[in-house]
Amino acid sequence: MTLMTAIYPGSFDPVTNGHVNIVLRSAAIFSRVIIAVLDNPHKKPLFSASERICLLQEVFAKENKIPQACEIEIEAFSGLLVDYAAKKGIRTIIRGVRSSEDLAKELPYASWNRQLACGSVETIYLPADQSLAFISSSIVKEVAMHIYQGTQGDNKLAQMVPPVVCAALRGKYKKNSI
Ligand code: PNS
Repeated sequence: MTLMTAIYPGSFDPVTNGHVNIVLRSAAIFSRVIIAVLDNPHKKPLFSASERICLLQEVFAKENKIPQACEIEIEAFSGLLVDYAAKKGIRTIIRGVRSSEDLAKELPYASWNRQLACGSVETIYLPADQSLAFISSSIVKEVAMHIYQGTQGDNKLAQMVPPVVCAALRGKYKKNSI
């Protein structure tokens, strides 16, 4: 049995293999998954919201493990997540958790979101695949900066992010890159 629609929100700056794994597992549960990319004017991301959306679109256009019964949508949102969920008529939020520290950080958000939405929104946590639990967008950016501004090859980075993201990170960090 598949459930209805869920929102998978995040910064996705940039999308990693950890995110991709959470989307694929969500797609086996829900018939529609909306990847909601936070466009926060107060934050200075490495990739703009439209760049992050383009990367996600490219990644999932090439992804052949999405169950046929599931529709994946990708869009930007700003403001409160619960307002976006209400506008879309969606009651379920998915978050991936890599560790007990992640869960401790996430739980207050779930409570706040539930209260702000007067009980009409629930958060479902999916534990990260253990082989991917060390990956975060922040570490990916740090590693990429050192790799592309230095002399190391990017084969280790290629294990953390899809190939299009590797190329995009190279474009951001590599000196004199075209
Ligand atoms: O990938 P991230 O940065 O961990 O994602 C965090 C995100 C986007 C899920 C969170 O910051 C968010 O929902 N922001 C929108 C504003 C909001 O609703 N904040 C929660 C109020 S308690």
